[in-house]
Amino acid sequence: MVEKKTVIVTGGNGFIGTNMVRLLINSKAYRVVNLDALTYAANALSLADLEGSQDYVFVKGNITDSELVSSLFDQYQPAGIFHLAAESHVDRSIVSPEDFMQTNVVGTYRLLEAARAYYVTLAEEKKQEFRFLHVSTDEVFGSLGADGYFTEETPYAPNSPYAASKAASDHFVRAYHHTYGLPTIITNCSNNYGPYQFPEKMIPLMILNALSGKPLPVYGDGSNVRDWIYVEDHCKAVKLAFEKGTVGGEYAIGANNEQKNVNLVNKICSILDDIAPPIEVPQLRERGLKSYTELIQFVTDRPGHDRRYAIDSARITRELGWQAEVGFEAGLRQTVDWYLSNPKWVDQASGGSYSEWIEKNYAWRADAQRESK
Ligand SMILES: NC(=O)c1ccc[n+]([C@@H]2O[C@H](COP(=O)([O-])OP(=O)(O)OC[C@H]3O[C@@H](n4cnc5c(N)ncnc54)[C@H](O)[C@@H]3O)[C@@H](O)[C@H]2O)c1
Repeated sequence: MVEKKTVIVTGGNGFIGTNMVRLLINSKAYRVVNLDALTYAANALSLADLEGSQDYVFVKGNITDSELVSSLFDQYQPAGIFHLAAESHVDRSIVSPEDFMQTNVVGTYRLLEAARAYYVTLAEEKKQEFRFLHVSTDEVFGSLGADGYFTEETPYAPNSPYAASKAASDHFVRAYHHTYGLPTIITNCSNNYGPYQFPEKMIPLMILNALSGKPLPVYGDGSNVRDWIYVEDHCKAVKLAFEKGTVGGEYAIGANNEQKNVNLVNKICSILDDIAPPIEVPQLRERGLKSYTELIQFVTDRPGHDRRYAIDSARITRELGWQAEVGFEAGLRQTVDWYLSNPKWVDQASGGSYSEWIEKNYAWRADAQRESK
């Protein structure tokens, strides 16, 4: 039997982090130390079933805490780090960029410093194995017009404070490879969807608003385009990049699945019409809705809203043999099913500071609930 590798995952209680931790542990090849500050975006229920497992350690803490991060490297002697912890919501970055600067830029820098100090202490064989895998976004490349795709060669042109903070962190990761020889890999992925996504993001927001009869807010005229990938496909690509990727390299990841926002919302409505028709939902019965599409509302656009994202992932396919496996119709249906089947998780995620934030901060639009990411 192959010995399991210990790795640190940051942000394991977030959306992609939860799916990443599960993939690593289920592969039977990894033991995971999950470092997460449990911000508003985390959900303690997401990984509750792993508590007590020999392959899983949870550490509540902040990636900006150098002492803590260094102590984790010393104690667990990991074969690498999957760095996912971030402030990830574009709308929040417009309202309060400071948190994005702290976590995404300063936090990534502190992790790099701790990794560098640890890396130089390793024996040659362990050095060969070590990787610093930085999970990043296609938003660092800015906005596309009607044609073309983002690739690993696309120049950086971040437009939102979120994208700027991720771009800065990518640059630090790259610099730590070129300057100090730290074995880094950066992945830039398109919009993810799937289970465990916090309800402020577009797809869960639409599902949950629809089921409670609230408006389905679509920014502008709904024609902005996003390229959607099922979260497990993304996590498989990240795992492959960690295991086989070129050191110092970057990989653009996408599932070749461009959707106009309004079409996506229509698809969600049609799945819901099929599996939870409004007439069968007790709180909606009185409203006489025939379809959830009647709840769609076009609202004032997000400031600086990028027009189109689309990824050409030819490099990771060619070099590592990765391909997305989950088709959009099937993945979206699975996602809708998951939100319908996990009301406790949804309740925990939707209450408290999240609803307060919505009330206070959506200043550029009159109504409170909105589409995002
Ligand atoms: N969601 C997407 O569509 C998408 C696409 C491409 C890349 N990414 C990137 O993937 C990563 C994960 O995204 P996500 O959507 O899962 O985010 P998320 O907001 O759902 O989760 C972020 C997690 O990081 C933790 N965290 C935040 N600040 C922290 C800090 N200072 N110290 C420790 N933990 C902290 C939170 O508690 C949370 O568990 C991010 O780096 C993001 O930029 C996301």
